[in-house]
Amino acid sequence: MREINASIPFDKALWRQDIAASKAHVDMLAAQGIVTVEDAGLIAGGLDAVAAEYEASGVPENWDLEDIHMTTESRLAELIGPVAGRLHTARSRNDQVATDFRLWVRDAMDQAELGLKQLQVALVTRAGEHAASIMPGFTHLQTAQPVTLGHHLMAYYEMAGRDRSRFADARVRMNRSPLGAAALAGTGFPIDRFRTAEALGFDGPTDNSLDSVSDRDFALDYLMAAAQCSLHLSRLAEEFIIWASQPFGFVTLPDSLSTGSSIMPQKKNPDAAELVRGHSGRIVGCLTALMITMKGLPLAYSKDMQDDKPPVFEAASLLALSIAAMTGMVAEATFRTERMRSAAELGYATATDLADWLVRQADIPFREAHHITGSAVKLAESRGIALDQLPLDDLKAIDARIDDRVYAALSVDASVASRASHGGTAPNEVSKRVAEARVALGLEDKA
Ligand code: ARG
Repeated sequence: MREINASIPFDKALWRQDIAASKAHVDMLAAQGIVTVEDAGLIAGGLDAVAAEYEASGVPENWDLEDIHMTTESRLAELIGPVAGRLHTARSRNDQVATDFRLWVRDAMDQAELGLKQLQVALVTRAGEHAASIMPGFTHLQTAQPVTLGHHLMAYYEMAGRDRSRFADARVRMNRSPLGAAALAGTGFPIDRFRTAEALGFDGPTDNSLDSVSDRDFALDYLMAAAQCSLHLSRLAEEFIIWASQPFGFVTLPDSLSTGSSIMPQKKNPDAAELVRGHSGRIVGCLTALMITMKGLPLAYSKDMQDDKPPVFEAASLLALSIAAMTGMVAEATFRTERMRSAAELGYATATDLADWLVRQADIPFREAHHITGSAVKLAESRGIALDQLPLDDLKAIDARIDDRVYAALSVDASVASRASHGGTAPNEVSKRVAEARVALGLEDKA
């Protein structure tokens, strides 16, 4: 029983929140005349002393004391005597743990948002440098149309922005205080839940005591946002892994985020990116674990809910590492823009531009233009040359309506410059998006 029951090995991470919530509680008890001001002062001073001990030498792990709440109360009693017993008036560990955990998750949401903002700063910085650097754009990982590296990086800026807003939304929804719900039904003591809520930075108290002690939506919201975010990070990581492979050679990874091989001296492995890709699986697993823990639990608190913490703690540390790793990767990678450009040039990435040119200049229906272009690509492929290296006579032999103006459309530069629709890959458009993003991130005053 002792072993299965103890949560102190992991919930000791809540000690700061537990002390803060207890101080808010005892202050309220005194203000309401439920304990004397003198006793409240002794208790608050004792809690500070316990906090100082935890800070200096960690939280002791005695399984007989079960959890962080009992551990702190027991140490408080050792330090200040029986008056410590008055702290637990008008509360229960059920509302206590719900409060502590909410405070912890709220910080984790804030940290994730801050980390993602740093990632966005790295992305817009590199995107600004490479607003006009041409690379192949892919569908099915097959060369499709030329894009710019800046455009590609700004796609991840958008993802990180949605992730930030998911954490911010979740924070608004969760920022209510369950403290004072007591075991499940509220309390007969004349407490002031608005006061403790305000002291702990909540927007107000929760409105149903049963829900207050049994709700873990805030933890699930956090994990859902974290899981979604980790999927984005794993996709970005995968891009770097592919780009760093020798056949691609689009990027040289920073030494600080790669490792050598113990037997192959030529190797530089993208371990950090691979671990980000791997960690996303674990983070999704944490979400699944808590969803299944909560599924079918009747109101109100059940001990199953003690298992809410390990997956949240695990996901939070994996997410923080993953965000930091990808931020460093983006900030410090060396992009091999010549390799990217020649891959775009050799991959028939401007085939669509030839078809579009035939539509625009020769008024050919797109389907027919597509067919003509297919023949041109086939011919160029059979000779191992790029589209714009085909002599005009050969192009004319495929379709007589082609003339020498076509070459202007076949260059990768002309191709990207032409895609100036809102959100398109034209360097001017990318630069506009980067400028807007820099303002949004506070890197620049509004123009
Ligand atoms: N350690 C417990 C948890 O994390 C605290 C709540 C205990 N409440 C109870 N009724 N046994 O969930």
